[in-house]
Amino acid sequence: MRWPAAHTLADGSESLPADAARIGYGADYNPEQWPEEVWADDMRLMREAGVNIVSLGIFSWALLQPTPDTWDFGWLDRAIDLLHANGIAVDLATATASPPPWLTELHPEVLPVTRTGETIWPGGRQQWRPTSPVFRRYALALVEQMAERYADHPALSMWHISNELGCHNVYDFSDDAASAFRTWLEARYGSLVELNRAWGTAFWSQNYSAWSQILPPRLAATHPNPTQQLDFARFSSDALKDYLIDEREILRRVTPTVPITTNFMVMGETRGMDYADWAGEIDLVSNDHYLLVADPQAFEELSFSANLTGQIAGRAPWFLMEHSTSAVNWQPVNQAKSPGQLRRDSLTHLAHGADAICFFQWRASLAGAEKFHSAMLPHAGPDSTVFQSVTRFGAELAGLAEVAGSRTKQARIGILFDWDSWWAAELDSHPTELLRYKTEAMAWYTAALANGLQADIVPARSVLSGPGLAGSALNGYDVVIAPMLYLVPIPLADALADYAQGGGHLVVGVFSGIADADDHIHPGGYPGAFRELLGIRAQEFGGLLAGQTVALTGELPAGSTGSLLTHDVTVGPDVEVLARFADGPFPGVPAITTRELPGGGRASFVGTVLDRAALTAFVGRISADAGLSSPLPEDVRGSVQLAVRQSDTEEYLFYINHSARAVTVALRPADGALASLDLGGSTLAADSLTLPATGVAVLRRPRTEARP
Ligand code: GLA
Repeated sequence: MRWPAAHTLADGSESLPADAARIGYGADYNPEQWPEEVWADDMRLMREAGVNIVSLGIFSWALLQPTPDTWDFGWLDRAIDLLHANGIAVDLATATASPPPWLTELHPEVLPVTRTGETIWPGGRQQWRPTSPVFRRYALALVEQMAERYADHPALSMWHISNELGCHNVYDFSDDAASAFRTWLEARYGSLVELNRAWGTAFWSQNYSAWSQILPPRLAATHPNPTQQLDFARFSSDALKDYLIDEREILRRVTPTVPITTNFMVMGETRGMDYADWAGEIDLVSNDHYLLVADPQAFEELSFSANLTGQIAGRAPWFLMEHSTSAVNWQPVNQAKSPGQLRRDSLTHLAHGADAICFFQWRASLAGAEKFHSAMLPHAGPDSTVFQSVTRFGAELAGLAEVAGSRTKQARIGILFDWDSWWAAELDSHPTELLRYKTEAMAWYTAALANGLQADIVPARSVLSGPGLAGSALNGYDVVIAPMLYLVPIPLADALADYAQGGGHLVVGVFSGIADADDHIHPGGYPGAFRELLGIRAQEFGGLLAGQTVALTGELPAGSTGSLLTHDVTVGPDVEVLARFADGPFPGVPAITTRELPGGGRASFVGTVLDRAALTAFVGRISADAGLSSPLPEDVRGSVQLAVRQSDTEEYLFYINHSARAVTVALRPADGALASLDLGGSTLAADSLTLPATGVAVLRRPRTEARP
């Protein structure tokens, strides 16, 4: 983040100097939706709320360029000047997110096309093809105008490329997409021979004899070619990344010192964009996150996403670009947040490395599709519970300024997360359609939290492409879990084997190690990529129907069950069986195995989806075996999460009570001298911390590396 230099504000006071530590606080600001008389009120109330940054211009293309040949920057000039005069920094959008009606009337060929051949018409937003050269020409001309015009504006703190790239248009099946897909495939495979091999086109008479025959996986008579589908997912992520790079290049050329971001959507089932791959293209990772009210594990999902965002950012600080103060408008049923939830959710993001907490949006719209979406300033006005919470929280964040710039502390459990596996594992024509990649990864994360332990969600990509040697991204993890890591290229399998042979504990989950980078089966028995390391071999899968469970016996809590999938595993002589199936497709067959490796490491396999209690117990066992102990007393585990950030000299401990009841956390002597930084209703005593329902306490202590 680049903060504006100190200057005298409209009211005669001095703004903070650029190098003053602060946490960003603000929202999307859409002044174009309001008469200018309202803006002065906005400034007054933003200052009252402690807002120090807003995102501006996101959906304003149609106003900035009312016709192909006319531009109107007057209102935006006035808005930026006004914000600056009030000490509010600007994250300026390139305004390309939603093309104006004149563009799509003039060039309907920029409109995306669905898998079934329907055109996505204007009337919503993001109605553009990522690969359209025509769209790109117009959009980049706008970016150039924006960059040139505001390059020297002192309020300009950051560039915000487009908005939520791919939110609605990641999969486009148009002719532009077809042609760009062919170019992408030529670059990937070099020859049709190689493409035919990778796609396995000997099957069903799919052999291609010219590039022009290749299409995106449009509606087909039956299961389209899986590698074609997987490559189209890869291509679609890359196509948007390529667009991102084109905008970025203009901004870098015109304003080389202004940081560039684009808001990711690391949340829920949003999977189209491989953000671990995109992160290297921008200067600062930012993320939008919304809770799904129907999700019983909404808190865990938030924590998971915040952690993953931090890992994508390399554990450096990132920017929470959007979340909501209260209800959203786009779920089937939308609910207001409960008291304290705005604070709890915001501080959970902060605990995982966010250095800015922003919302969609500043002032609730009166018209348009999002008029029922909450905002910092709701329809009810400043005299509202939400605005009071917003203002209180703004003051609280100002008191947390010293946390800014600190990094999230590496956990000792790493959970691998991989977009290729997400895409490939959920394709059709598999042993089961019921397994969900994100659900599996979440289950392991939740089990770590239930044991009072923090886990990191580590992009599998970083294992191969991070700085240093292959596998070095795994340094420091005592346990690495690979949930449903279906697609495993040989170099990744090797890096994971090196990790385990070097003394780590690799835990391989259900439906892992099955296919290579082309989505071809690793032959010889499952899980091919890990068979030797695990010392096991399966010949068949046993899919279980929805609601069907198999009983498990062994070192698990009584009554433990598995669901969704089983494997008929046989084990080698040096493999210990920890649990077996008591019934189901493979009675008596090993369900959980573990093998000690010569280098002191270990490789374990969990061949079904364990129920929650069983998975919690299993994660407890492997953590204990690895010498990990929770810093939280047993009675609060699963209710309280402890997440830690650290600066060069301090550790910041976020105790987050995500349960609906007050809890008291007994502190250990090993916790050292904890001082309070922000209690927010909690009580810190010499040997305990009492948190109200949904309460979060931020404590601080000097950093010492030796502490467990
Ligand atoms: C996204 C968009 C915003 C707004 C919010 C509503 O995050 O970026 O423009 O539509 O959703 O939740």
